[in-house]
Formats: sequence, structure tokens, C-alpha cells
Amino acid sequence: MTGGPSLPLASDALVLFGVTGDLAYKKIFPALQAMAKRGTLGFPVVGVARSGWVRDQLVERARASVTEYGGLDPSAFAILESQLRYVEGDYHDPDTFRRIRVELQHAQRPTFYLAIPPSVFPAIVQRLADCGCSKGARVVVEKPFGRSLESARALNQLLLRTFPEESIFRIDHYLGKEAVQNILYFRFANAFLDPIWNRRYVENVQMTMAEDFGVVGRGKLYEETGVIRDVIQNHLLQVVSYLAMEAPSSTYAEAIHDEQAKVLRTIRPLTTENLVSGQYRGYRDEPDVAPDSQVPTYAAIRLYVDSWRWEGVPFIVRAGKRLKMTCTEVRVEFKTPPPVVFHEPAPPEGNYVRFRLSPQVAIALGARVKSPGEAMVGEPIELKLVDGPEQGTGGQMDAYERLLGDAMAGDATLFARQDVVEAAWAIVDPLIRTPQPVHAYEPGSWGPGDADRFVSGIGGWNAPE
Ligand code: BG6
Repeated sequence: MTGGPSLPLASDALVLFGVTGDLAYKKIFPALQAMAKRGTLGFPVVGVARSGWVRDQLVERARASVTEYGGLDPSAFAILESQLRYVEGDYHDPDTFRRIRVELQHAQRPTFYLAIPPSVFPAIVQRLADCGCSKGARVVVEKPFGRSLESARALNQLLLRTFPEESIFRIDHYLGKEAVQNILYFRFANAFLDPIWNRRYVENVQMTMAEDFGVVGRGKLYEETGVIRDVIQNHLLQVVSYLAMEAPSSTYAEAIHDEQAKVLRTIRPLTTENLVSGQYRGYRDEPDVAPDSQVPTYAAIRLYVDSWRWEGVPFIVRAGKRLKMTCTEVRVEFKTPPPVVFHEPAPPEGNYVRFRLSPQVAIALGARVKSPGEAMVGEPIELKLVDGPEQGTGGQMDAYERLLGDAMAGDATLFARQDVVEAAWAIVDPLIRTPQPVHAYEPGSWGPGDADRFVSGIGGWNAPE
């Protein structure tokens, strides 16, 4: 994006805490190989973990990762391999950090990426300060940023004692998704939407983030987070802010962050009657999950944006693991026209705008047209404006490649600002402070039936297909 001040100097090394973990395996190694392929991996990558490994094992892990996620590119991987270093050690042990300093050699401006459970952030940040590694450095902090509003503030204070604000990158990879950026673009680049994008015309907004897989080896992390902290407080509320915000004055990072913060602050903090949480059957048998765990793997929430534009329009957001399919989709449903001309039975589908965010990318408009024949009765049709493959294919940058590159370059536009993060925590905080009972649901279903009450008066769920 453009319009901001010029960028600072690029980082000259990447230090990856949690390099043997799931995030590095699924997202970061493929992003690094893609950077190598594009010719932008001109810096050493120091992996840090406490897995009892040696460097060769890490190289094999990286190879397996890129093979499984996107495909091995032998020459790009050779570059990644040549840049890869490994430091084995405990995150609480000062010696680990001395060895990181040694591996960094002459690097002056490293970026430290914390791809680890949030409970370890404070120890690492403190050790980075103690060993003098934080000078001139940046820090990338994986979501969730904190565990609650209070702990997000405390974490921010802790980071600010060591890093200036412009060196803190709160990553939320949804912001690096093309399809999420396109919500913003589509909304403010099309004049026809502006008059109808409000409470007078919009009946409800629904968002589903469904995954057909479970916690796959991430039981320990998931027990610390649960679905609200894992994806709702961050990914999905970021998307809500793009859907509901007022027009930013430009694409300058602060202009967008200002509008996001403003709209999130107008969302009423959630109450228990606006939440249904669930847990898939079998979750408690996953490795590292407590046999009596009450951690939700599903949540449906109903949000109200108390603003002039959105008063009274429900935003219904649901997310869950081991659901019927893997898909993230938003549907903005418009009010149905008065049935005074055609006297059709209430149309099963009114007009809508649909954004498919993943795995494929789509923007579509739903409308009605007359069915051929004598009667004045119609049928729904959908006009696809964008219909694309998964991001990261066909030479396109994947979200993590984009964000890693931006962090290394010092561009914070697509990273979450602290006040936006805090406004999002304020919405979910009342619910996570008093955990709710979880309803069991069958793997392969759409989650607990109790959530249907949120959509019973508005035509049911818009289940993605
Ligand atoms: C991560 C969550 O942030 O996002 C995961 O921790 C989730 O639980 C993932 O599976 C989904 O992201 P994507 O881009 O792969 O759909």
C-alpha cells in the first residue's frame, strides 16, 4: 500500500523461534522457499527450538515441509538450505541466546519471529533484551497477541520495554490474504455498493470459517487457545472490521488501522446469549489434550455493531474444526424486496454479496431473474466477479511469503496495530473470562445445532458449497 513515510532499512537475518513446530512446517518453510525462488532470501535463517535436534534434522524437516505444502523446488530449496542454521536450547536458558548471537555473526538488524505458544513470549523477549540481541532488531509476534485484553496490554508493555513500536509486527496472516484485501478494495472501489452497504438494505452478515480437519498434532497449543483465541479474536474480527468500517482516508497504514479500530470499538462486547460453543467428539482423545477438556473447537457468535451504519444488523460469525468442509466465506445478505408486484412465495434466496476467502477465492453477486415461461416467477442466479484458485498457486504470493517479506522490509501496513488488537479483545473478553459449557458435535457436521437459533429468523445458515 502507499502514501506512508519511506521504509526503514531491511532486516539482515531471520531468527525463527519454534522452528520445529507446526506453523513453521505448514507455512513458514514454504514461504521461505518461495522467497528463495523469487530471489529475495538473501539473509541467514536461524531456527531455534528445544527438540533435541541437530541441523541435518531441521534441513530434512524443511524439505518435508515444502514437499507437502506446495512442492519441492530443488534449486530454491538449495538456497534455503544454505541459509539455514540451527540453535538447540531452552528458551529460558541465557546460553541459548548467546549461541543465537554467535549464529547471527555480523547481522545488525535481525528479525525475531516468535512462532511459539504465547506463554513463552515474555521469557524470550526478556532474554533477547538481556543478551543485547534486540538492538536494531524487529520482532514478529504470532497471533493470538496475548490471551485476553489485560494480557495483550501486558505483552505490549513488555515488548515496548525492549522494542520501539515501529519494530513490533503483530502478525495475522489473514491480513496477507489477497481475498481479504479484496474486501477492502471491492467495497471502496465500487460506487454501486456504497448506498446499500448499511442497515437500510443489509439484513445480516454471515461468516463461516470451517475446517474439515482437527487439531492435528497441535493439541498442546490448542488447549492454551481454543477457537475464540485461535481464529475469532484475530482473523475473523479483522475481516469483520474490513466489512463494517467507514472509508479510510487513503491506503496509508495508519488510515486503515484508524478505521478498523473505530469500528471494532463500536461492536458490543459479547454476552453469553450471543455465543454457542462446541467441541468435536474425539477432541479429548487427541495427543496433549486433557481428557476432560472444556476447550471449544467451535464457536458461533452474534455481533452487533452499534454505529449509525449498522445499528440492528446481526453479524453472525462461526468457526470450527472437524466441520463438514474446509472453507472460509462471508455472505452479506440484503433485505428481500416487498412482495407486492409478483406475489411470489418468499424467495428462498434474496440478493447477496459473497466473498470466498479460502481455499479458493471468489466474489459473487446473488440476484433473481425471471424463469422462462408465462408466469412472472423467478429463480436465483449468481454472477461471479472473481473466481480464482487458492492463493500461493500460479506464481502468486502466499500470505506468509507476503507478510514475511513485509516484516523483513519494515512495512507494517498488513500487521495489526495494538489498538486494533485491544479493541478485538474487548469484544470477546467477557466470554473468555467466564468459560462457557461446550456442546459436543459430530465430526463432519456443521457444529452444534444450538447455534441455529442465531439464524432461525433470517432464513438459516448460508452454508458454503
Ligand atoms: C491459524 C490457526 O492461524 O489459521 C489454525 O491457528 C487455522 O487453527 C489456520 O487452521 C487457518 O489458516 P489458513 O490460511 O490455512 O486457512
